[in-house]
Amino acid sequence: MMKIGLLGHGTIGVGVDRIIKKREDMEVKKILSLVIDDEMEGRTAADLSEITMDPEIDTVVEVMGGIHPAFEYIKEAMEQKKNVVTANKAVVAACYDELIALAEKNGVFLRCTAAVGGSIPWLVNIERARRVSDIFEVGGIMNGTTNFILHKMLTEQAEFDVVLKEAQDLGYAEKDPSADIDGDDIRRKVLISANTAFDVSIPEEAIPTFGIRTVRLKDVSWGVSNGLTLKLKACAVKNADGQIEKAFVEPVFLKSGDILSAIPANYNLVYYTGSYCGTQSFIGEGAGRFPTAHNVVEDLIDILETPETFYTVKRERKVPENHVKRLYYVRTVAEDRWLLETAHEEAEGVYCLEAYVDEIHLWAKQMKEKDPGFFMAALE
Ligand SMILES: NC(=O)c1ccc[n+]([C@@H]2O[C@H](COP(=O)([O-])OP(=O)(O)OC[C@H]3O[C@@H](n4cnc5c(N)ncnc54)[C@H](OP(=O)(O)O)[C@@H]3O)[C@@H](O)[C@H]2O)c1
Repeated sequence: MMKIGLLGHGTIGVGVDRIIKKREDMEVKKILSLVIDDEMEGRTAADLSEITMDPEIDTVVEVMGGIHPAFEYIKEAMEQKKNVVTANKAVVAACYDELIALAEKNGVFLRCTAAVGGSIPWLVNIERARRVSDIFEVGGIMNGTTNFILHKMLTEQAEFDVVLKEAQDLGYAEKDPSADIDGDDIRRKVLISANTAFDVSIPEEAIPTFGIRTVRLKDVSWGVSNGLTLKLKACAVKNADGQIEKAFVEPVFLKSGDILSAIPANYNLVYYTGSYCGTQSFIGEGAGRFPTAHNVVEDLIDILETPETFYTVKRERKVPENHVKRLYYVRTVAEDRWLLETAHEEAEGVYCLEAYVDEIHLWAKQMKEKDPGFFMAALE
């Protein structure tokens, strides 16, 4: 019987505990939580050591979120030879190398399937596919909150602020929605996916990211009048030499026939492309208590059935090149010489231009200082 120490008893922690209560092969023995509630039924741990020093506990589930103290707690658990399952993409993306090295050094398992795609069996299928095919592209719609917002703006002709508030009321967006709307969440997910698929370790800051904080209904409507649908998309591509040709996150206007353009509400569509398997896409609920808890428990069962220490053991430090040209839509009220020289003005304050991904993301950072309402999206 697997004995588990649970760190965090919030949305996902409660979901994991409720699923495990119905199983006979595992048990949550102790729970570390800032707030004590009735469901914890006397299993409260006074501090971390009550879990990490308990010889009966073999596995720790971390669902507290954030980087600190989550990293220190996971580290301590692994050093005490506990397997770790986490749904926390922030800590895995920020401390990727350290976490895998700790798992290897201590001979314990580290799984984080729920960290990318909620309930979608995503990382585990990358793990399976790469045994046969060389995976050279991963990507998709990896954030349910932003997809919900863009979908509602499109279907209800609603303004960004109104839909964001609705997403918060429904529990899809957090009180501070920054990680979702600024693209940080999706950057972490594409990083973990690319590292797993390509056997690399990409530094988080090397993935250019532009979110949807400044998107307005007029941008979505511009797309509609041109037969295009706006989505926030991530992609990472490895070339034949094993270099990371590109890895970035940005809003993109997709042709209405593109399967990604049809993904509704808070759903995710993630895909990988490999040498023999071709493109495989997975659609599902990217978040939520039970969908996410489902994948945490899948990881626990995998540990019982002994898979590899982590999804991949190789990790070569690689920085994406991103020197590829794309077409872009830009909306700004700021005057800029480079923009006037490079772009053609579609309508007042709306421009189209061709630019390198790495260069336009750097330029966008400067433009946001000149014009806080600056928005851009690629045209695919
Ligand atoms: N929610 C989703 O749909 C979803 C989907 C995929 C992945 N995830 C990931 O799953 C993790 C948990 O998310 P969640 O939605 O369950 O968050 P949540 O509802 O905020 O739950 C986190 C819980 O951990 C507690 N906590 C925070 N710091 C702690 C500490 N130092 N010691 C003990 N307990 C601590 C929090 O207590 P307080 O509330 O008192 O701070 C809270 O009860 C995150 O990493 C998130 O990114 C969530």
